[in-house]
Amino acid sequence: MQTERGDEYSRALSTATVLAFVMSGRRQILVTSALPNTNGSIHLGHLLEHIQTDIWVRFQRIRGHLCTYVCADDTHGTGTMLKAEEMKLSPEQLIERLRTEHAGDFQRFLISHDNYYSTHSEENRFHSESIYRALDAGGYIFKQSGEQLYDPARKLFLADRFVKGECPRCATPDQYGDNCEACGATYDAKDLKNPRSLLSGATPTLRESEHYFFDLPQFTDMLKVWTKSNAVQPEVGNKLAEWLESGLKAWDISRDAPYFGFLIPGTTDKYFYVWMDAPIGYLASFDNYTRRRNDITFDDYWRPGATTEVHHFIGKDIVNFHCLFWPAVLEGSGRRKPTRVHVHGFVTVDGTKMSKSRGTFINAGTYLEHLNPEYLRYYFATKLNGTVDDIDMNLDDFVQRVNSDLVGKVVNIASRCAGFVAKLGNGVLAADQHDHALWNEVSGASEDIAAHYESGDYAKAMRLIAALADRANQYIAHHAPWNLAKDAARHTEALAVASQAINVFKVLMVYLSPVLPATAAKTTEFLALPGLTWDDATRTLGAHRIGRFEPLLTRLERSSVDALIEASKQGGETQPETKPTTSEIDIDDFHKIDLRVAKVLKAETVAGADRLLKLELDLGDSTRQVFAGIKSAYAPEALVGRLTVVVANLKPRQMRFGESQGMVLAAGPGGRDIFLLAPDAGATPGMVVR
Ligand code: 2FM
Ligand code: ZN
Repeated sequence: MQTERGDEYSRALSTATVLAFVMSGRRQILVTSALPNTNGSIHLGHLLEHIQTDIWVRFQRIRGHLCTYVCADDTHGTGTMLKAEEMKLSPEQLIERLRTEHAGDFQRFLISHDNYYSTHSEENRFHSESIYRALDAGGYIFKQSGEQLYDPARKLFLADRFVKGECPRCATPDQYGDNCEACGATYDAKDLKNPRSLLSGATPTLRESEHYFFDLPQFTDMLKVWTKSNAVQPEVGNKLAEWLESGLKAWDISRDAPYFGFLIPGTTDKYFYVWMDAPIGYLASFDNYTRRRNDITFDDYWRPGATTEVHHFIGKDIVNFHCLFWPAVLEGSGRRKPTRVHVHGFVTVDGTKMSKSRGTFINAGTYLEHLNPEYLRYYFATKLNGTVDDIDMNLDDFVQRVNSDLVGKVVNIASRCAGFVAKLGNGVLAADQHDHALWNEVSGASEDIAAHYESGDYAKAMRLIAALADRANQYIAHHAPWNLAKDAARHTEALAVASQAINVFKVLMVYLSPVLPATAAKTTEFLALPGLTWDDATRTLGAHRIGRFEPLLTRLERSSVDALIEASKQGGETQPETKPTTSEIDIDDFHKIDLRVAKVLKAETVAGADRLLKLELDLGDSTRQVFAGIKSAYAPEALVGRLTVVVANLKPRQMRFGESQGMVLAAGPGGRDIFLLAPDAGATPGMVVR
C-alpha cells in the first residue's frame, strides 16, 4: 500500500508534470522556510535561509504564479518553559515578544512572508490533534515504557541537552546526553558516566515513563521511492538512502509534563514533542492565512493528489525531520507530501564558523544598524547554487561583489545614461533600439536566467546578469554618449545610445528584482512604470517618458562592515531588550521613581560606543549628564531642544565613558524606531511626570 502510493505520488510530482502544469498556466505554490526557535534573535543563518526562500518566492510571483509564503516561530519545548521562568514571564509572553521581534527583522530584510505565525496557536493545536488521531487510527502509534534521566530537584525529565557527563566510550568529561564532541560517539543519555543535570547540578535518577511512538519503519518503502523522486537534491537523496538502508527506528513523539506544548489527545500529562508539532506549524500558519483569502483553499494544498505544489526550504541539519518523519506523518495521516524540500548548507564567515568573540555572529538587528539589507541579499544570491555546500561570507569578497558587480556594473548603467535622456530627449526615450544585437542578447537570456532561479542556482543567474551588464557597459563606453552630446549634430545618436542603455538596464532590473525588491521598486519609479513583470524583459519601452533619476544603491564601505563586526563583538548590543517587564511592583515602589521632563541641551557621539549618545539635560533646577542608547534613531543635532522623560533619582552609574546621572525613557522596538516625547509635547523642563 505504502509503495503503491509512493509511486503514484512521485509520478505525479515528477518534473514532467510540474512542467506540464507550468505550460498550462499559473502554478499554485505554497512555500515555507524552517520555523525559527523562540530562543534568541534572528542571525545570519536564519537570514541565509529566508533570503534564499524569498528570492525563489519573488521569482515565482514575478513570473505570474500564485505563490504563498508562510512561516512562524517554533515555540514549544522545555527550553521555552525554563527561559520564561528565568525571565519571570509566562511562556506566552516570552514567545509573543520574540515573534514580534523576529517578524520585524524579517520584514526589514524585505522577506515577503504572507503570514508569520506561531506554533502556539489554536490552528496548530487543531492540526496536531487531527494528524495524531489519523495516525493512531491508521495503526501508526504505539506506547512503550522506558527509563529516562530525571532531575529530582527540578522535578522534570531531562532532555539530552540538559544533561552532561563523561562519554561512555572515551571518558571525555563534560559531554551532552546525545553525543561526544571528542570521539563522535552517539549514545543514550542514560549511558553517560557521572551525569549531572545542567538545570540544578543534581545527579539525575532513572525514572520509568510511558512514551508514545510513531512507527516510522512502516513507511520505509514509501520513503525509498519518495527520496529518489525529484523531491530532494541528489546529494540529499544519497544521504537518505544510507539512512534508509541502515534501517529506521520508531520515533518518540511524546514528552512528560511539565512541558510547554500541546497535550496529546486522551492524556493528561503527555505532550507532543516539539519536533512533532513544529512542521505541522506550516499547515497551521497556512490555514490561518487562508481564512483571510477567498482565492486560496487549505484543502487544495494538502489533500492527497493535489496538483498544487508545496516547497520547504531548510538547512542540512534538519533533513531527517523533513525528509523522513514529515513525509511519513503526512502520508500516514492521509495528506499530500511535499513537492520538494530545498536543502542549503551552513553559513561561515571568512572561512570559519560564526563566532561571538570574532564578531562574526551577526544578528539581523545589528546588521541593519550598519548596512543595507539588499547588500546581503545580493551577496547570498551570488553564493547560493542549489547544493548543500556551506556558504562562506568572505567579508572582502562581500564588499567587492556589491561594489564592482552591483553598483559598478548594473546601477552604473542608469546613472551614466539617465542625464542624456533628461537633457537631450526631454525625459523621453528614443523610440527605436540602437543596437539590436545587444538588445537580443540581454532580453534573450530571460529563459536561461529563469531556469537558474527555478533550480535554485542563483549564483549562475547572478553571473549571467553581471556578464550582460559588462556587455552593456562596453556598449556605452564604445559609443561614449558624453562625447556625442558635445556635438549638436550627434544629439539624436547620443539619445539613442542612452535610451538603449536604459532599456537594457530595465531588463537587468527585471532579472534582479527577486533579489533586490527595494531597488526594483525605485527603478519602476525612475522609469515611470506601474511595476515590473518577467515579460518586461522582452519588451522595449519605446518613446516612453521616464522620471527623474535618483541614486538607486550606494557603494558599500569596508569601514561600515568593520563597524558591524565591532558591534557584533559587543554581543549585538543593538538588539531590542528582552528583559522581563512584568514582575510586579507595588504603588509605593512606583512613587519612589522621580520622573521628570527634561530638555536636551547638548548631544554628542561617544567614541567607542556604537549605540550611545552623551546628553546634557536641563531638568529645570539642574543639568545632568546622561548616556542614552538612542544613537540608532537620532543624529545628535536632531536632539538638541527635544524633550524627554528622565528617571531623575536613579543612582549615578560610572560607565566606561563617564558618569551617567539618570536615565532617558523612550519607547519602541529599537533600531531606527525609538521615540522620545513629541517635540511639541507642551511640557517644560523639570515638570513632574505621573
Ligand atoms: O531547527 C530549528 O530551528 C527548528 N525550529 C526548525 C523547525 S522547522 C519546522 F519543522 F517547523
Ligand atoms: Zn567520546
